[in-house]
Amino acid sequence: MTLTTIHDHRDRARRRLPRYLFDYIEGGAHEEQTLEANVVDLRRIRFRQRVMRDVSQISTRTELFGVPMSMPLVLSPVGLAGMYARRGEAQAARAAQAADVPFCLSSVSVCSIGEVSRAATPPWFQLYMIKDRAYMRELLQHADAQGCAVLVFTVDLPVPAPRHRDVRSGFSAAPGLRRFLKLARDSAAHPAWMWDVLLRGKPHSFGNFAPGIAEASAMKNFGAWVGRNYEQGLSWDDIAWIRSCWKRPIVIKGILDPDDAELAIDAGADGLVVSNHGGRQLDGGPSTISVLPSIAARVAGRVPVLVDGGIRSGPDMLKALALGAQACMIGRAWAYGLAGGGGGGVAHVLELLRKELRTAMALTGCTDVRAAGPDLIASFGGETGPSGPDHAGGR
Ligand code: FNR
Repeated sequence: MTLTTIHDHRDRARRRLPRYLFDYIEGGAHEEQTLEANVVDLRRIRFRQRVMRDVSQISTRTELFGVPMSMPLVLSPVGLAGMYARRGEAQAARAAQAADVPFCLSSVSVCSIGEVSRAATPPWFQLYMIKDRAYMRELLQHADAQGCAVLVFTVDLPVPAPRHRDVRSGFSAAPGLRRFLKLARDSAAHPAWMWDVLLRGKPHSFGNFAPGIAEASAMKNFGAWVGRNYEQGLSWDDIAWIRSCWKRPIVIKGILDPDDAELAIDAGADGLVVSNHGGRQLDGGPSTISVLPSIAARVAGRVPVLVDGGIRSGPDMLKALALGAQACMIGRAWAYGLAGGGGGGVAHVLELLRKELRTAMALTGCTDVRAAGPDLIASFGGETGPSGPDHAGGR
């Protein structure tokens, strides 16, 4: 099949994966209003077309936390990626390294930090705080020793939100024979995936948590495990505890409100990700692009602001950069690439985004991605949210 857009990668992933895994990637919380808003609000934004601006030289290069990169893009942490393709996180990290962009490894990855670091440049590491602090300290020391350059601390999952697709598909249904048969039937209908992942992709455990938590050595009962082990009592004071174990940059992921951005900086964050977890947590919350300008304005350049949610193309990236982000992150886009085509699929997704970003820059007259600003934007469409370039906030 010809793959010309991220949507083509999505279609290929849907055919290749068992339904319960595709739905796990695709789905959001509750009625999926926020999931939809991420995409719809981005699409409504309109660029200004600018012409005759000598776009023969275009630079997409930038840097974050002293790390140079080919374009302002980071692969968001996506859990269970080793179930989408064989040793999926290692494959994705290699593709990211080849494209010269950072790969952020989820806490709940199949491959461990060590396995990914042996395959490619050590990843950024995403932390979910679990209750066992001694193990957390050990894990952070291990991430440091492996060379992870940045810690991304996800703060928008104090409790897991209900994802109805996962209950219907059987993925997070109560254990039992019915569920087993349902998942087995679904898996058996996808023999290429069974051969690649189920048979040749072992071990299927949570590589980072299995050494410290017995339950994490198997995939079953993921939702219940998360509920029992994730720390629900977190507050801004806990950033100081993380700082005591981690000296490199700490990026707080899951900021949707300017007041929280301020509190995160006060607590010592070195960067922020404006994120609603891809619409997988608070349903009815705002799209990320609609709150990005006000958060970027409040942060006013004190720390880098990254954003994710709904980014499916180079023009989407440029919109986010124009509205105040120093870099974008993508979750589903790379997961689709991985599920459909392994590391080669991720590489192709990254190449598509790079080309599309360059084209969008040329057609808006932007020759240096670091200079993208609200002057690239003509309108925000829709009636809600920011209402024009004057309100687009600073970089
Ligand atoms: C995620 N996300 C996520 N975030 C995180 O901090 N740790 C994690 O383990 C995961 N796991 C995860 C699994 C899957 C299947 C998805 C789709 C997402 C959220 C992710 O990092 C990111 O915030 C969103 O995916 C961004 O939205 P888009 O790009 O998917 O629209």
